[in-house]
Amino acid sequence: MSVATSIDPKQVHEIIGRHQLADGYDMVLDLDKSHGPWLHDAGRGEDFLDCFTCFASWPLGYNHPGLDDPDFERELLRAAKCNPSNADLYSREMAAFVEAFASHVTPEGFDHHFWIAGGSLAVENAIKTAFDWKARRLGRTDFNDNVNDLVIAHFQYAFHGRSGYTMSMTNTLPDKVGLFPKFQWPRIMSPGIEYDLEGNISNDIEALEARALAELEAFHDSWSRRDGYKHIAGVLIEPIQCEGGDRHFRPEFMHALRAFCDKADALLCYDEVQTGFFGSGKPWMWQHHGAAPDVVAFGKKAQVCGIYAGPKVDEVEDNVFVRSSRINSTWGSNLVDMVRSRRFIELIVENDYAANTAARGEQILAGLRRIAGDTGAFTNPRGVGSLLAVDYADGDARNAAISRCYDERLLTLPCGPRSLRLRIPLNMTEQEADEVLNRVEAAAKP
Ligand SMILES: Cc1ncc(COP(=O)(O)O)c(C=O)c1O
Repeated sequence: MSVATSIDPKQVHEIIGRHQLADGYDMVLDLDKSHGPWLHDAGRGEDFLDCFTCFASWPLGYNHPGLDDPDFERELLRAAKCNPSNADLYSREMAAFVEAFASHVTPEGFDHHFWIAGGSLAVENAIKTAFDWKARRLGRTDFNDNVNDLVIAHFQYAFHGRSGYTMSMTNTLPDKVGLFPKFQWPRIMSPGIEYDLEGNISNDIEALEARALAELEAFHDSWSRRDGYKHIAGVLIEPIQCEGGDRHFRPEFMHALRAFCDKADALLCYDEVQTGFFGSGKPWMWQHHGAAPDVVAFGKKAQVCGIYAGPKVDEVEDNVFVRSSRINSTWGSNLVDMVRSRRFIELIVENDYAANTAARGEQILAGLRRIAGDTGAFTNPRGVGSLLAVDYADGDARNAAISRCYDERLLTLPCGPRSLRLRIPLNMTEQEADEVLNRVEAAAKP
């Protein structure tokens, strides 16, 4: 018996709670008995159907048989027995991961990569890339030059993380960023789509988009006696705003942001920490819209967090992908994560889980529309691939629905003021997706 397996599951919360805030799920994850989309609670001895997937970070369910591959297990153990500083010390294991990611996950034409641990830090480095780029575009190449007039335009309902720079742009629940000093960067209204039960857009989205773009233009043109002129270094947006309420955007809006960035000489930065790595049924959510970014931050399902960037960064010499140490960290992500990510990439490609994700998304969305029509319990069903959501009348009704789902042994997540979100594994089967719908229906009404 190992140190961990000698612990009685019933003691887990008590032991952890003795030393830290332990107000997470009241279950105990059983790493052996959890399988596929079934999270086994060692405390209750029961399975939960997992549409939480560790905050959309666990791509292929638990104990995928493809992880039993002996070569992979040996590689994982080798990597786990060492913790190299990958940013500056390279290994064959790292080379195998970088090759797999660059050839199967990164789209054509994006030649720069940077790896780090944590989605917030991925986003931070995306905007550092934009700041450095814009400063140099303005001719400020001396490290003593003042660049405090550079800003990042971002959106209402955005969630980009809880680290230094990202807190100035995250604006979901106030407890995430309140009482911490922040930068006053331009916050643009967010023109999110609402859908009827046939999947048609039911709000005046063109008017909302026009307002958002007008706000962006007004900021770009503005000069104030107090602040002087602020230069937009980048526009940062999640292609679907997840934490803020699964708010979808039209391709037309994303293309308008692209055009704005070209005009304003700013980098278009996407935060795909939650939407990326095949979660939408394509490697990246932005590929559904077709408006190509300059920099993309990723994390979660990819296991390894970081950024990839396209040719616009090369328009300045000495950019952060050329000049050593402008962006860096000791571990440059983590080698164990790299080995695991590489294996996930192989499994996703071999089994075409991207196509499966797209099909399961359509299946569940159709079911959510039917349940909404039959029960009237929720509205605005929406989703693409593994990223699905519905709206309740208010936050209380939503929270009650989440706890009824829990009673049905279905794990879901809240987002935004009154939305419930499902985040399914990419390899969910048709039968398992039907079971998700059965449980959503059972929990639909009090
Ligand atoms: C869109 C988005 N960006 C950034 C983050 C922050 O990632 P992390 O929690 O890994 O720092 C999250 C986390 O939920 C996210 O959803």
